Amino acid sequence: MKATVEAPANIAFIKYWGARDLDAAVPLNASVSMTLDRCRARTTVEHLPDGAEDRVELATAAGELAAAPPGFAEPVRRHLERLRRWAGVGGAFRVATRNNFPTGAGIASSAAGFAALAAAVAACLERRPEAAELSRLARLGGSGSAARSVLGGFVRWPRDDDDADGPAVQLAPAEHWPLCDLIAVVESGAKEVSSREGHRLAPTSPYFAARLAALPERRRGVEEAIRERDLERLGPLVEEEAIDLHLIAMSSRPPIFYWQPGTLEVLAAVRELRASATPAWVTMDAGANVHVVCEPADEQTVAAALAALPAVASVLRDRVGAGPRRSEEHLF
Ligand code: PMV
Repeated sequence: MKATVEAPANIAFIKYWGARDLDAAVPLNASVSMTLDRCRARTTVEHLPDGAEDRVELATAAGELAAAPPGFAEPVRRHLERLRRWAGVGGAFRVATRNNFPTGAGIASSAAGFAALAAAVAACLERRPEAAELSRLARLGGSGSAARSVLGGFVRWPRDDDDADGPAVQLAPAEHWPLCDLIAVVESGAKEVSSREGHRLAPTSPYFAARLAALPERRRGVEEAIRERDLERLGPLVEEEAIDLHLIAMSSRPPIFYWQPGTLEVLAAVRELRASATPAWVTMDAGANVHVVCEPADEQTVAAALAALPAVASVLRDRVGAGPRRSEEHLF
């Protein structure tokens, strides 16, 4: 049996940074994100009941398959082990995957990848876990943000403040507010420091306690702004939050610098856009690339301004999307 799932990346407006339990991805704070539409991981999984060993492959854009390098294959194998336990099956899985966007560069590739893997394994075993169960399964791969990528639209994880181990929940579907996310790619290589390492070091920042104390109010503001579709309220909070995350990273011991000179160029350009009355705000995950959030009416203006910057290699134009979907375009 074979199944293919395409799962989207997501961009956090309130970031998950710091874990109670790194392996199980149990967060120290609740996060809020927007699920993307176009940046996706496509994953095909086949269950081999008599197979002895899991096989993990990466597909190229041309459709060729090659064995994944150990750094990629190992976490996938560990996740497959957990998924086997969940499903109560033995045997092995053949897995092939492909991202249609740069991997490991702050575009939530692990979120899309682990969400696609969990959903494809469930589908190929003909299981239909509820969204909450799938959210938990996606996260067990060690990428907390994957818990959010199983849902479309605007998402909070964990659902309940008193259950850090709980699933994600949809705050509003994609149709609620057709926001754009224009990703200014200033660095397409993988980042040097993993988000896992960032989570581990976060509590060593002398400012981490202040961040945690400020988050509930900031998150409330973000959720209200989403509810009211109020970009003038959302934008400053999202920007403040992204800078806060990088402040924690830069003040961790040892410090982590995800920003590149191009990151600052994009930040300045977006401030200039605002000064000339184009509403757009930035956010960044654990990478140098900059996500610029704006309304569809301003997408063209913002994309053109970003593309004109010497530091910007390309602009990925994405928007809020509906979540994972089955596909019949198998990778093998
Ligand atoms: O899901 P992880 O463990 O790769 O961590 C995600 C970290 C950030 O992207 C920086 C924040 C987030 O909430 O997506």
